[in-house]
Amino acid sequence: MADDTTDTKSSNQMWGGRFASGPDAIMEEINASIGFDKKLFAQDIRGSIAHATMLAHQGIISADDKDKIVHGLNTILSEIESGNFKFSRQLEDIHMNVEARLATLIGPAAGRLHTARSRNDQVALDFRLWVKEELQKTEQMLTGLIAAFLDRAEEHAESVMPGFTHLQTAQPVTFGHHCMAYVEMFGRDRARVRHAIEHLDESPIGAAALAGTGYPIDRHMTAKALGFREPTRNSIDTVSDRDFAIEFLSIAAIAGMHLSRLAEEIVIWSTPQFGFVRLSDAFSTGSSIMPQKKNPDAAELVRAKTGRINGSLVALLTIMKGLPLAYSKDMQEDKEQVFDAAESLELAIAAMTGMVRDMTVNTARMKAAAGSGYSTATDLADWLVREAGLPFRDAHHVTGRAVALAESKGCDLAELPLSDLQAIHPDITDKVYDVLTVEASVASRKSFGGTAPSEVRRQIAFWRARN
Ligand code: ARG
Repeated sequence: MADDTTDTKSSNQMWGGRFASGPDAIMEEINASIGFDKKLFAQDIRGSIAHATMLAHQGIISADDKDKIVHGLNTILSEIESGNFKFSRQLEDIHMNVEARLATLIGPAAGRLHTARSRNDQVALDFRLWVKEELQKTEQMLTGLIAAFLDRAEEHAESVMPGFTHLQTAQPVTFGHHCMAYVEMFGRDRARVRHAIEHLDESPIGAAALAGTGYPIDRHMTAKALGFREPTRNSIDTVSDRDFAIEFLSIAAIAGMHLSRLAEEIVIWSTPQFGFVRLSDAFSTGSSIMPQKKNPDAAELVRAKTGRINGSLVALLTIMKGLPLAYSKDMQEDKEQVFDAAESLELAIAAMTGMVRDMTVNTARMKAAAGSGYSTATDLADWLVREAGLPFRDAHHVTGRAVALAESKGCDLAELPLSDLQAIHPDITDKVYDVLTVEASVASRKSFGGTAPSEVRRQIAFWRARN
């Protein structure tokens, strides 16, 4: 799709009737959006075909003109798809590039296509169709990521790892449970996507410039033909609304934030110091100077893409802020933000799905780490409450003393001899050792949503059925 920026200076053939001469070069440069909105060509042509078909059905244009228009538009579609279309910056945007080409192809009938519509409802339509398709794609990609996590969770429903708070070892959990936390997060993202699709599922075409039109159009017909639930209800709002784009960006920003947390965990887990996971060769890079290195570049870039997506959200919110109703040209700046964020989000989800599926989980390292850092201290306290009848606060105190003793001896809680434990509290018996292993700790946490393998399997079954 080559851009042609060398058109001669004459007044615009679409709207230049009252203009004696063409725009200044700078005017043309600041005004043109074809450089990026050519991405909307398929939506623009679909919308025009639906519009022309409706115009003919309503007797507003002749069936003959409609046939010429539809045929011409289909020709343009294949020209663009095969790279044989010459985009012109002088023609500003995708709408006028298509229409000008239509005039060359079919002559005067082309001039009837723009009856009862404006570029304001046209661009609202094209962009909405594009965002809707992107949301549908995002929904599928999130489903793929969720499926990857469900598989890993199933495989590791019993694998023990340290659970962290403040990035300090807290209590043992299962890796499957940790994976299922991400399923919850991306499941919420997917629900937001589904909701946004429902939200934007109204057709803007027919709102015209802002006031509707005097032609006897049928907006329900175009809405149906374009796969929308119904037409929008207020023509002023229709051409001034970009909530659907902002919703897409907010969803992308939240999903991006989730992806960045996962990315960060993968960066940490794959350090030699942690060694919880090993990234596959396919999802890591080497260092040009240090031969031993395997770098998690993809995870780092996913973490960084979040910044870009947030930037797009803030940019569009700021573009829209304070704009009077209805359409203002400021709104032309909406598309690049959404296109860039969509590309970043797609890439980030795809990279993460690949990494999660490919990474090797080092269960031995995880288990060893799970037992360090006195991670079963809470289990000792709970045992004292349950078996020795201590109030939890006292049990907490007794346990704290046991931890301090183990620390001074440089051993784990389970390695303290019974005599040492009994010196701290006489009611402790050798039964306590049953709860001090990480497996026992994890298996005991059977509360709904807890980390016990049985609960993790329940969560997996729930999400598998929900997909
Ligand atoms: N290229 C424009 C945009 O992206 C299309 C709408 C132009 N409308 C107008 N009244 N100038 O917003």
